[in-house]
Amino acid sequence: MHLDDLEILARVSISEEKEELIANNDGEPQSEISHILSEYILDRSQYEKVSSLLLDEMEHGLSKEHNVSAAVKMFPTYVRSLPDGSERGDFLALDLGGTNFRVLAITLNGLKVEMKNKIYPIAPEIMTGKATQLFDHIASCIDNFMAENGLSGQKLPLGFTFSFPCKQEGLAVGRLVRWTKGFKCEGVEGEDVVTMLHEAIKRKGLGVECVALINDTVGCLMSCAFHDHNTQVGVILGTGTNACYMEHLDRVGTWDDDTEEPKQVIINTEWGAFGDNGCLDFIRTKVDRDIDATSLNPGKQLYEKMISGMYMGEIVRMIAVECAEKGLLFNGQVTPELAQRERFYTKFVSEIEEDNNEEEGYPKVRQVLDELGLVNVTTEDCRILKHICSVVSTRAAYLASTELTVAVDGSLYRFHPHFHDLMFCMRLSEDGSGKGAALVAAVANRLRSRSAQLVFVFKLMLSEDGSGKGAALVAAVAYRMKLMSPH
Ligand code: GLC
Repeated sequence: MHLDDLEILARVSISEEKEELIANNDGEPQSEISHILSEYILDRSQYEKVSSLLLDEMEHGLSKEHNVSAAVKMFPTYVRSLPDGSERGDFLALDLGGTNFRVLAITLNGLKVEMKNKIYPIAPEIMTGKATQLFDHIASCIDNFMAENGLSGQKLPLGFTFSFPCKQEGLAVGRLVRWTKGFKCEGVEGEDVVTMLHEAIKRKGLGVECVALINDTVGCLMSCAFHDHNTQVGVILGTGTNACYMEHLDRVGTWDDDTEEPKQVIINTEWGAFGDNGCLDFIRTKVDRDIDATSLNPGKQLYEKMISGMYMGEIVRMIAVECAEKGLLFNGQVTPELAQRERFYTKFVSEIEEDNNEEEGYPKVRQVLDELGLVNVTTEDCRILKHICSVVSTRAAYLASTELTVAVDGSLYRFHPHFHDLMFCMRLSEDGSGKGAALVAAVANRLRSRSAQLVFVFKLMLSEDGSGKGAALVAAVAYRMKLMSPH
């Protein structure tokens, strides 16, 4: 996989039967509702422009010269090989950044993977509070999980899936560039999150060591590659959206580490930030701009805000409110629930689009509307709302479409009834964030124990690196690459 292939990744292919929701400018008089929706129905040339812009942005991100000003940062992850099926051992994994925070215990044994996991809620005050509160909470969850699973006192290696943009300096060193999605914790941006985690683990008196920091896209790719060695791309369509892929080192202008075999590294594209330099303004709607302006990170993650689960329900809600206020929907009713920001969950979009039961007047759509306090709705109201949902989710799916067989995961992709059909050739990654973290940890751990002496040699070579541990782990991966090299 290299940048030429990325063109395929970025290119949107629209087959005949999917053209229905692409602009049809053949002069039909538009109803007021179609007029409101028309800015969400892009034509082929607009989608093609988006694809080619994304490709340009990715190239900028990879280039040493342009990276500073690039919106799509294309971070090298220091993960340079995919699992080969020989990974074994017991691991802990953390998954932070999606719909839920989870702690997992994973046993890898050849192709057999055993997993236990527990979801721990993170209160909104913690998501937007102080750094130490967040990391102390994570350490308490690890402590609780280990106690409940009879693991207390064990010194287990841990893989940390941290699904935010990090500039990695090693396999287990990564500075948070900026929070995205629903997080805005003070004192973490610019810091190495593994150090912060280790400090909290120490405060809690636990014997756990984080050996790998990974993005959820990398977890998704690792987990799929474990079962299918041809997998080269990981895509997340969940609370946020992002993709990673394996790239040749000589194409990564920003690469500053060794160039031994295998000459490749997984690139975390952070494509959610596509458009942050204004290049997508030609397709952004008033609602897109409004959602951005009232978000925790105005001006950032503009592509993500048009696509992912955190925002899709809100886009539909705002369009529905506009239609209701104009008397085109719900007989003009705007209930307090419908008027409330973020009250129209993205899972409603899935539920509404799933309901094809017109004969019975769309019972599932009515159920959703009931939750929003909307009574006396007509079948026509349900049909219109279904159409709004479909226009918004189709735009999202086309914007995120690829032609490649890729590993893909995320709550939006899993639970939306048509997202899969609108994108192509996707393989659902079974718990990539959890399993993938364990796989990266397993690769790192296996190499470290297998090659203690050479790790030391490489450790010396990399001693300039700020973190000895991270350097040793990068060295371990480098050693494995050396073993695999034909020379
Ligand atoms: C956001 C994060 C990115 C993550 C994605 C999916 O875009 O910045 O790191 O992969 O959400 O969770």
